[in-house]
Amino acid sequence: MKVLVTGGAGYIGSHAAQRLLADGHSVVVVDNLSRGHARAVQRLREHARNGDRLGFQHLDIRATDTIETLIREHRIDTVMHFAALTYVGESVEKPLDYYENNTAGSLSLLRACERSWSHAHGGVRRFVFSSTAATYGEPPADRVPIREDCPQNPINPYGASKLMVERMLRDSVAAAARSGSDFAAACLRYFNVAGADHTGLIGEDHDPETHLIPIAIQAAMGKRPGMTIFGEDYPTSDGTCVRDYVHVEDLADAHVTVMQKMTTGTCVAYNLGIGRGYSVKEVIAAVERVTAKPIPVRIGQRRAGDPPVLFADPAKIRAELGWSASWTDLERIISTAWEWMRRNPEGYGR
Ligand code: UFG
Repeated sequence: MKVLVTGGAGYIGSHAAQRLLADGHSVVVVDNLSRGHARAVQRLREHARNGDRLGFQHLDIRATDTIETLIREHRIDTVMHFAALTYVGESVEKPLDYYENNTAGSLSLLRACERSWSHAHGGVRRFVFSSTAATYGEPPADRVPIREDCPQNPINPYGASKLMVERMLRDSVAAAARSGSDFAAACLRYFNVAGADHTGLIGEDHDPETHLIPIAIQAAMGKRPGMTIFGEDYPTSDGTCVRDYVHVEDLADAHVTVMQKMTTGTCVAYNLGIGRGYSVKEVIAAVERVTAKPIPVRIGQRRAGDPPVLFADPAKIRAELGWSASWTDLERIISTAWEWMRRNPEGYGR
Protein backbone atom coordinates (compact mmCIF):
# COMPACT_ATOMS: atom_id res chain seq x y z
CA MET A 1 0.00 0.00 0.00
CA LYS A 2 1.01 3.65 -0.34
CA VAL A 3 0.71 5.17 3.08
CA LEU A 4 0.78 8.79 4.19
CA VAL A 5 2.05 8.86 7.78
CA THR A 6 1.34 12.19 9.46
CA GLY A 7 3.53 12.81 12.48
CA GLY A 8 5.92 10.19 11.18
CA ALA A 9 8.89 12.00 12.73
CA GLY A 10 7.35 11.58 16.17
CA TYR A 11 7.55 8.73 18.66
CA ILE A 12 4.69 6.48 17.60
CA GLY A 13 4.52 7.60 13.96
CA SER A 14 8.19 6.79 13.34
CA HIS A 15 7.71 3.26 14.70
CA ALA A 16 4.68 2.79 12.46
CA ALA A 17 6.68 4.04 9.46
CA GLN A 18 9.46 1.58 10.32
CA ARG A 19 7.01 -1.30 10.45
CA LEU A 20 5.29 -0.31 7.19
CA LEU A 21 8.65 -0.19 5.42
CA ALA A 22 9.65 -3.56 6.85
CA ASP A 23 6.44 -4.99 5.41
CA GLY A 24 7.23 -3.59 1.96
CA HIS A 25 4.80 -0.66 1.87
CA SER A 26 5.69 2.78 0.47
CA VAL A 27 5.60 5.56 3.03
CA VAL A 28 5.42 9.34 2.79
CA VAL A 29 5.94 11.06 6.12
CA VAL A 30 4.40 14.49 6.66
CA ASP A 31 5.53 16.30 9.79
CA ASN A 32 5.73 19.97 10.75
CA LEU A 33 8.64 19.10 13.08
CA SER A 34 7.13 21.14 15.92
CA ARG A 35 7.61 18.09 18.16
CA GLY A 36 9.03 15.45 15.83
CA HIS A 37 12.63 14.78 14.84
CA ALA A 38 13.91 14.93 11.26
CA ARG A 39 16.69 12.61 12.45
CA ALA A 40 14.19 9.84 13.17
CA VAL A 41 13.15 9.89 9.52
CA GLN A 42 16.78 10.19 8.42
CA ARG A 43 17.74 7.12 10.45
CA LEU A 44 14.89 5.13 8.94
CA ARG A 45 15.91 6.19 5.46
CA GLU A 46 19.51 5.20 6.01
CA HIS A 47 19.12 2.04 8.05
CA ALA A 48 15.60 0.61 7.86
CA ARG A 49 14.72 -2.23 5.55
CA ASN A 50 13.39 -0.61 2.36
CA GLY A 51 14.46 2.82 3.67
CA ASP A 52 14.55 3.98 0.04
CA ARG A 53 10.75 3.68 -0.04
CA LEU A 54 10.42 6.44 2.56
CA GLY A 55 9.63 10.00 1.51
CA PHE A 56 9.55 13.03 3.78
CA GLN A 57 7.69 16.34 3.50
CA HIS A 58 8.22 19.08 6.06
CA LEU A 59 4.62 20.19 6.07
CA ASP A 60 1.71 20.99 8.37
CA ILE A 61 -1.48 18.96 7.95
CA ARG A 62 -3.43 22.22 7.90
CA ALA A 63 -2.01 22.89 4.39
CA THR A 64 -5.03 21.20 2.76
CA ASP A 65 -4.16 21.98 -0.88
CA THR A 66 -0.57 20.78 -0.58
CA ILE A 67 -1.67 17.59 1.17
CA GLU A 68 -4.17 16.94 -1.60
CA THR A 69 -1.44 17.40 -4.22
CA LEU A 70 0.80 15.03 -2.30
CA ILE A 71 -1.93 12.40 -2.18
CA ARG A 72 -2.35 12.72 -5.94
CA GLU A 73 1.34 12.68 -6.81
CA HIS A 74 2.20 9.73 -4.58
CA ARG A 75 -1.06 7.88 -5.33
CA ILE A 76 -1.70 7.55 -1.60
CA ASP A 77 -4.40 5.00 -0.71
CA THR A 78 -4.04 4.92 3.09
CA VAL A 79 -3.54 7.58 5.76
CA MET A 80 -2.17 6.85 9.22
CA HIS A 81 -2.71 10.00 11.20
CA PHE A 82 -0.43 10.47 14.22
CA ALA A 83 0.33 14.21 14.00
CA ALA A 84 -0.95 15.83 17.19
CA LEU A 85 -0.09 17.65 20.36
CA THR A 86 -0.26 15.09 23.15
CA TYR A 87 0.36 16.61 26.60
CA VAL A 88 -2.70 16.49 28.83
CA GLY A 89 -1.39 19.24 31.14
CA GLU A 90 -0.47 21.54 28.25
CA SER A 91 -3.92 21.03 26.75
CA VAL A 92 -5.49 22.45 29.91
CA GLU A 93 -3.22 25.52 29.68
CA LYS A 94 -3.56 26.03 25.92
CA PRO A 95 -6.81 24.40 24.81
CA LEU A 96 -7.00 26.30 21.54
CA ASP A 97 -3.60 24.97 20.46
CA TYR A 98 -5.05 21.49 20.88
CA TYR A 99 -8.27 22.20 19.00
CA GLU A 100 -6.27 23.94 16.26
CA ASN A 101 -3.62 21.25 15.80
CA ASN A 102 -5.58 18.15 16.63
CA THR A 103 -9.16 18.90 15.66
CA ALA A 104 -8.82 21.53 12.91
CA GLY A 105 -5.65 19.81 11.65
CA SER A 106 -7.53 16.53 11.29
CA LEU A 107 -10.40 18.30 9.57
CA SER A 108 -8.00 19.73 7.00
CA LEU A 109 -6.42 16.32 6.43
CA LEU A 110 -9.81 14.68 6.09
CA ARG A 111 -10.89 17.36 3.63
CA ALA A 112 -7.85 16.58 1.48
CA CYS A 113 -8.81 12.88 1.64
CA GLU A 114 -12.37 13.69 0.63
CA ARG A 115 -11.17 15.69 -2.37
CA SER A 116 -8.89 12.83 -3.35
CA TRP A 117 -11.87 10.53 -4.00
CA SER A 118 -12.18 12.23 -7.39
CA HIS A 119 -8.52 11.59 -8.28
CA ALA A 120 -7.75 9.16 -11.07
CA HIS A 121 -6.20 6.61 -8.68
CA GLY A 122 -9.32 6.57 -6.45
CA GLY A 123 -7.74 8.51 -3.60
CA VAL A 124 -7.54 7.65 0.08
CA ARG A 125 -9.60 4.58 0.94
CA ARG A 126 -8.38 3.86 4.48
CA PHE A 127 -7.84 6.24 7.38
CA VAL A 128 -6.29 4.97 10.61
CA PHE A 129 -6.51 7.49 13.43
CA SER A 130 -4.41 7.78 16.61
CA SER A 131 -7.03 8.19 19.25
CA THR A 132 -6.56 7.84 22.96
CA ALA A 133 -7.87 6.31 26.16
CA ALA A 134 -8.08 9.94 27.30
CA THR A 135 -11.39 10.09 25.36
CA TYR A 136 -12.91 7.92 28.14
CA GLY A 137 -12.20 10.51 30.82
CA GLU A 138 -12.62 9.03 34.29
CA PRO A 139 -14.61 5.85 33.78
CA PRO A 140 -16.50 4.56 36.83
CA ALA A 141 -14.74 1.69 38.60
CA ASP A 142 -17.27 -0.84 37.30
CA ARG A 143 -16.30 0.07 33.69
CA VAL A 144 -12.62 -0.90 34.19
CA PRO A 145 -11.14 -2.82 32.36
CA ILE A 146 -12.38 -0.46 29.68
CA ARG A 147 -14.29 -1.73 26.68
CA GLU A 148 -14.89 0.30 23.55
CA ASP A 149 -18.53 0.87 24.48
CA CYS A 150 -17.56 2.65 27.70
CA PRO A 151 -19.04 6.20 27.57
CA GLN A 152 -16.55 8.74 26.22
CA ASN A 153 -16.51 11.78 28.48
CA PRO A 154 -13.05 13.36 28.20
CA ILE A 155 -11.97 15.47 31.16
CA ASN A 156 -9.34 17.53 29.36
CA PRO A 157 -9.03 19.39 26.04
CA TYR A 158 -6.56 16.79 24.73
CA GLY A 159 -9.13 14.00 25.01
CA ALA A 160 -11.88 16.27 23.69
CA SER A 161 -9.79 17.34 20.69
CA LYS A 162 -9.35 13.67 19.73
CA LEU A 163 -12.94 12.64 20.42
CA MET A 164 -14.19 15.24 17.94
CA VAL A 165 -12.03 13.65 15.26
CA GLU A 166 -13.57 10.25 15.96
CA ARG A 167 -16.96 11.86 15.36
CA MET A 168 -15.81 13.54 12.14
CA LEU A 169 -14.52 10.22 10.87
CA ARG A 170 -17.76 8.40 11.63
CA ASP A 171 -19.77 11.06 9.82
CA SER A 172 -17.36 11.16 6.86
CA VAL A 173 -17.46 7.39 6.42
CA ALA A 174 -21.26 7.45 6.46
CA ALA A 175 -21.36 10.30 3.93
CA ALA A 176 -18.83 8.56 1.69
CA ALA A 177 -20.89 5.37 1.75
CA ARG A 178 -24.00 7.32 0.74
CA SER A 179 -22.17 8.94 -2.18
CA GLY A 180 -20.62 5.69 -3.31
CA SER A 181 -17.02 6.55 -2.35
CA ASP A 182 -14.78 3.77 -1.13
CA PHE A 183 -13.74 4.84 2.38
CA ALA A 184 -13.20 3.25 5.80
CA ALA A 185 -11.80 4.52 9.08
CA ALA A 186 -10.44 3.09 12.32
CA CYS A 187 -10.00 4.91 15.63
CA LEU A 188 -7.30 3.27 17.72
CA ARG A 189 -7.53 4.28 21.37
CA TYR A 190 -4.09 3.94 22.88
CA PHE A 191 -3.45 3.36 26.52
CA ASN A 192 0.07 4.16 27.81
CA VAL A 193 2.53 3.68 24.99
CA ALA A 194 6.02 2.65 26.10
CA GLY A 195 9.33 1.16 24.98
CA ALA A 196 11.34 1.60 21.80
CA ASP A 197 12.26 -0.19 18.61
CA HIS A 198 14.10 -3.34 19.78
CA THR A 199 16.93 -2.75 17.27
CA GLY A 200 17.77 0.57 18.95
CA LEU A 201 17.43 2.69 15.80
CA ILE A 202 14.57 4.93 16.93
CA GLY A 203 12.85 5.68 20.23
CA GLU A 204 11.07 8.16 22.44
CA ASP A 205 12.45 11.72 22.68
CA HIS A 206 10.11 14.30 24.16
CA ASP A 207 11.05 17.78 25.34
CA PRO A 208 9.94 18.26 28.01
CA GLU A 209 9.56 14.63 29.03
CA THR A 210 6.47 14.01 31.17
CA HIS A 211 5.93 10.25 30.88
CA LEU A 212 6.56 7.94 33.78
CA ILE A 213 8.92 5.35 32.26
CA PRO A 214 11.40 7.74 30.55
CA ILE A 215 11.40 9.98 33.63
CA ALA A 216 12.18 7.01 35.87
CA ILE A 217 14.97 5.92 33.52
CA GLN A 218 16.40 9.46 33.44
CA ALA A 219 16.37 9.45 37.25
CA ALA A 220 18.11 6.05 37.28
CA MET A 221 20.74 7.38 34.86
CA GLY A 222 21.37 10.39 37.10
CA LYS A 223 20.10 12.75 34.40
CA ARG A 224 17.69 14.16 36.95
CA PRO A 225 18.19 14.19 40.72
CA GLY A 226 15.13 12.05 41.37
CA MET A 227 11.47 11.89 40.61
CA THR A 228 8.09 12.54 42.19
CA ILE A 229 5.22 10.11 42.51
CA PHE A 230 2.08 12.12 41.87
CA GLY A 231 -0.11 10.99 44.75
CA GLU A 232 -0.02 7.98 47.05
CA ASP A 233 -3.59 8.18 48.29
CA TYR A 234 -5.51 6.69 45.37
CA PRO A 235 -7.93 3.82 45.98
CA THR A 236 -5.50 1.23 44.57
CA SER A 237 -3.51 -1.55 46.23
CA ASP A 238 -0.43 0.61 46.90
CA GLY A 239 -2.11 4.02 46.64
CA THR A 240 -0.58 4.97 43.27
CA CYS A 241 -2.25 5.18 39.85
CA VAL A 242 -2.56 2.09 37.70
CA ARG A 243 -2.00 2.18 33.92
CA ASP A 244 -1.80 -0.22 30.98
CA TYR A 245 1.63 -0.01 29.30
CA VAL A 246 1.63 -1.19 25.69
CA HIS A 247 4.82 -1.54 23.65
CA VAL A 248 5.22 0.85 20.74
CA GLU A 249 6.11 -2.03 18.37
CA ASP A 250 2.90 -3.81 19.30
CA LEU A 251 1.07 -0.59 18.57
CA ALA A 252 2.70 -0.39 15.12
CA ASP A 253 1.73 -4.01 14.56
CA ALA A 254 -1.89 -3.24 15.47
CA HIS A 255 -1.97 -0.40 12.92
CA VAL A 256 -0.79 -2.67 10.14
CA THR A 257 -3.23 -5.41 11.17
CA VAL A 258 -6.13 -2.95 11.19
CA MET A 259 -5.08 -1.35 7.89
CA GLN A 260 -5.14 -4.71 6.15
CA LYS A 261 -8.58 -5.69 7.40
CA MET A 262 -10.61 -2.51 6.98
CA THR A 263 -14.04 -2.82 5.38
CA THR A 264 -15.42 -0.09 3.13
CA GLY A 265 -18.22 1.89 4.73
CA THR A 266 -17.21 1.13 8.32
CA CYS A 267 -15.69 3.25 11.06
CA VAL A 268 -14.44 0.99 13.83
CA ALA A 269 -12.85 1.68 17.23
CA TYR A 270 -10.40 -0.51 19.12
CA ASN A 271 -8.64 -0.22 22.44
CA LEU A 272 -4.91 -0.89 22.28
CA GLY A 273 -3.52 -2.10 25.56
CA ILE A 274 -2.17 -5.28 27.09
CA GLY A 275 -5.20 -5.72 29.33
CA ARG A 276 -3.55 -5.39 32.71
CA GLY A 277 -2.44 -2.50 34.81
CA TYR A 278 0.72 -1.67 36.76
CA SER A 279 0.91 0.90 39.53
CA VAL A 280 3.37 3.80 39.45
CA LYS A 281 5.33 2.16 42.26
CA GLU A 282 5.45 -1.15 40.38
CA VAL A 283 6.77 0.64 37.30
CA ILE A 284 9.48 2.45 39.27
CA ALA A 285 10.53 -0.82 40.95
CA ALA A 286 10.71 -2.50 37.53
CA VAL A 287 12.88 0.34 36.17
CA GLU A 288 15.19 -0.11 39.16
CA ARG A 289 15.52 -3.81 38.40
CA VAL A 290 16.10 -3.28 34.66
CA THR A 291 18.70 -0.53 35.12
CA ALA A 292 20.14 -2.03 38.32
CA LYS A 293 20.18 1.47 39.77
CA PRO A 294 18.27 3.01 42.67
CA ILE A 295 15.80 5.81 41.91
CA PRO A 296 15.44 8.61 44.46
CA VAL A 297 11.70 9.11 44.86
CA ARG A 298 9.58 11.60 46.75
CA ILE A 299 5.83 11.54 47.17
CA GLY A 300 4.09 14.62 45.81
CA GLN A 301 0.59 15.91 45.27
CA ARG A 302 -1.83 14.26 42.86
CA ARG A 303 -1.53 15.55 39.29
CA ALA A 304 -4.74 17.18 38.06
CA GLY A 305 -6.76 15.01 35.71
CA ASP A 306 -5.16 11.63 36.59
CA PRO A 307 -7.82 8.92 36.92
CA PRO A 308 -6.86 6.26 39.54
CA VAL A 309 -7.07 3.18 37.31
CA LEU A 310 -7.05 2.91 33.51
CA PHE A 311 -6.53 -0.32 31.68
CA ALA A 312 -7.96 -1.80 28.56
CA ASP A 313 -10.17 -4.72 27.86
CA PRO A 314 -8.51 -5.61 24.53
CA ALA A 315 -10.94 -8.46 23.75
CA LYS A 316 -12.60 -6.76 20.79
CA ILE A 317 -9.53 -6.43 18.57
CA ARG A 318 -8.43 -9.95 19.52
CA ALA A 319 -11.80 -11.42 18.60
CA GLU A 320 -12.32 -9.42 15.41
CA LEU A 321 -8.78 -9.14 14.01
CA GLY A 322 -6.73 -11.64 15.97
CA TRP A 323 -4.41 -8.94 17.36
CA SER A 324 -3.07 -9.01 20.87
CA ALA A 325 0.04 -7.49 22.43
CA SER A 326 3.10 -9.70 22.25
CA TRP A 327 5.13 -7.61 24.74
CA THR A 328 3.27 -8.34 27.96
CA ASP A 329 6.17 -8.37 30.42
CA LEU A 330 6.73 -4.94 31.96
CA GLU A 331 10.47 -5.42 32.47
CA ARG A 332 10.98 -6.44 28.86
CA ILE A 333 9.04 -3.40 27.68
CA ILE A 334 11.12 -1.15 29.93
CA SER A 335 14.35 -2.84 28.75
CA THR A 336 13.81 -1.57 25.21
CA ALA A 337 13.32 2.01 26.47
CA TRP A 338 16.41 1.65 28.68
CA GLU A 339 18.49 0.35 25.76
CA TRP A 340 17.41 3.26 23.57
CA MET A 341 18.12 5.87 26.25
CA ARG A 342 21.47 4.30 27.16
CA ARG A 343 22.61 4.33 23.54
CA ASN A 344 21.12 7.77 22.84
CA PRO A 345 21.46 9.73 26.08
CA GLU A 346 20.64 12.97 24.25
CA GLY A 347 17.82 11.38 22.24
CA TYR A 348 18.13 12.48 18.63
CA GLY A 349 20.29 15.44 19.76
CA ARG A 350 19.17 19.05 19.73
N1 UFG B 1 3.60 9.88 37.05
C1 UFG B 1 4.26 10.13 38.23
N2 UFG B 1 5.41 10.85 38.18
C2 UFG B 1 5.93 11.36 37.02
C3 UFG B 1 5.25 11.09 35.80
C4 UFG B 1 4.07 10.35 35.85
O1 UFG B 1 3.83 9.72 39.31
O2 UFG B 1 6.97 12.04 37.05
C5 UFG B 1 2.35 9.09 37.08
C6 UFG B 1 1.15 9.86 36.57
O3 UFG B 1 0.59 10.65 37.60
C7 UFG B 1 0.26 8.72 36.10
C8 UFG B 1 1.25 7.65 35.61
O4 UFG B 1 2.50 8.00 36.21
O5 UFG B 1 -0.47 8.22 37.17
C9 UFG B 1 1.43 7.64 34.12
O6 UFG B 1 1.68 8.97 33.69
P1 UFG B 1 2.15 9.33 32.20
O7 UFG B 1 2.36 10.82 32.20
O8 UFG B 1 3.29 8.47 31.81
O9 UFG B 1 0.91 8.91 31.30
P2 UFG B 1 -0.64 9.33 31.41
O10 UFG B 1 -1.36 8.14 31.98
O11 UFG B 1 -0.84 10.62 32.08
O12 UFG B 1 -1.05 9.58 29.88
C10 UFG B 1 -0.75 8.70 28.84
C11 UFG B 1 -0.55 9.50 27.58
C12 UFG B 1 -1.82 10.22 27.20
C13 UFG B 1 -2.94 9.21 27.10
C14 UFG B 1 -3.06 8.39 28.34
C15 UFG B 1 -4.08 7.32 28.15
O13 UFG B 1 0.49 10.44 27.75
O14 UFG B 1 -1.64 10.87 25.97
O15 UFG B 1 -1.81 7.80 28.66
O16 UFG B 1 -4.07 6.37 29.18
F1 UFG B 1 -4.09 9.87 26.91
